Amino acid sequence: MEKKRSSFTGKLGFVLAAAGSAVGLGNLWRFPYLAARHGGGIFLLVYLILSVTFGFTLMITEIAIGRKTGLSAIGAFQSIRKKWSFVGYIAAIVPALILPYYSVIGGWVIKYLTVFVTGGAGTAANDGYFEGFIGSTGQSLLFFAVFMGITAVVVLFGVEKGVEKVSKLMMPVLAILSVGIAAFVCISNGVQGKWEGILYYLKPDFSNFSIMTVVAAMGQLFYSMSLAMGIMITYGSYMKKDVSLESSAHQIEFFDMGIAFLAGLMIVPSVVSYSGIEGLGKGPGLMFVTLPKVFNEMGPVLGNIIGAVFFVLVFFAALTSSISLMETVVSIIQDKFRIERRVTCIIVLCGALALGIPSALGFGVWSGFAPLGMDILSFFDFLTNSVMMPIVAILTCIVVCWVMKPKAVVEEISASGKFKQEKLFRVMIYVAPVLLLAILAFAVFEAFGITFGGFLKF
Ligand code: PFF
Repeated sequence: MEKKRSSFTGKLGFVLAAAGSAVGLGNLWRFPYLAARHGGGIFLLVYLILSVTFGFTLMITEIAIGRKTGLSAIGAFQSIRKKWSFVGYIAAIVPALILPYYSVIGGWVIKYLTVFVTGGAGTAANDGYFEGFIGSTGQSLLFFAVFMGITAVVVLFGVEKGVEKVSKLMMPVLAILSVGIAAFVCISNGVQGKWEGILYYLKPDFSNFSIMTVVAAMGQLFYSMSLAMGIMITYGSYMKKDVSLESSAHQIEFFDMGIAFLAGLMIVPSVVSYSGIEGLGKGPGLMFVTLPKVFNEMGPVLGNIIGAVFFVLVFFAALTSSISLMETVVSIIQDKFRIERRVTCIIVLCGALALGIPSALGFGVWSGFAPLGMDILSFFDFLTNSVMMPIVAILTCIVVCWVMKPKAVVEEISASGKFKQEKLFRVMIYVAPVLLLAILAFAVFEAFGITFGGFLKF
């Protein structure tokens, strides 16, 4: 049964859809806490360098594979060489593992949205409020289920057009609000610690560098740009031949980096000012702990309004991303097993709910269960970002270099205009797997506590 493939109307449609998937909790929640934890300015610098070299190369490669084959991940690798279709399968497992814990954090966003809408800025700013919430059983499960449910409803009804329209409006507002909040953080009543924080975030300090800076930046790159999980391959398959692949990739990258940078500027200096340099090591809760304090500082009326608007925007950014995660999983299962879409959605919903429960409870009743010393949510995050995605990326590079040959990718990119960074691509596609392998090894050793005489110690 040949189904005609739908395609994006033009470049803007493609870039916005890809940016909608890319810009999400990864930028607003994950990037700032990683930057805070892994050296501030030096993390920013490493991330920037990696994104214009590795990130760009991988992104353009995935889009090109998708457009060339006209298929999504599994089919694409299968059509390149049957033997290599397993790469597509591994890529397909990644979003299935991310979706559940992503939705747990989506639930936190909904919770904070309700708090601000009901005028609770003061409450949310209290020390220990966040810990109390994520440590609870009922509330954390409830909000997780609500977020997961909303995602499933949207995917089920496929309101693609609506989502596209909403994100077209929301994304620019999110960018403007981020600039505003970041500016507020930087100029408001000159608390000294803020400048210390701003400096920490903007000025690379090489003494803060460790191999984990690179490991974390690389994992974040995959996550944030929705790479190494088949998403960009699928999006590429919807792309028309005359749309410039190279400039589209640059634009997605720019948008994604920009929002992440601003999120860091909102959050990192505030952490330093409210909880000192020691506060920087705090993990996944950073956005939820410090931003309410910033909003509260704006006064009860303005604070609640800005807080509510901010969390609405974060909610939409998270939702557009979770939709693309769930959509990927649904379409893979549907293609593979030929099950009806509605049934598939219900299966994926139930699976994600079941898989997400441990992550939701990992800060409370199940906190005693700490795989590799991490809370359960961080463990899933580590497994997907630091282990599985590098593996998929390495295998993708191997397939490009030795099976389909870089020339084929270059030709696909050149079909829509001169490939300006061809040289960079041709070098990076060979360098990438070697470095990725080293990074993967370091990440795994680190997780198992093997530190090579302190070299890996942060
Ligand atoms: N890139 C998204 C973010 O930064 O939040 C996360 C994500 C969404 C990854 C969709 C993968 C994906 F398919």
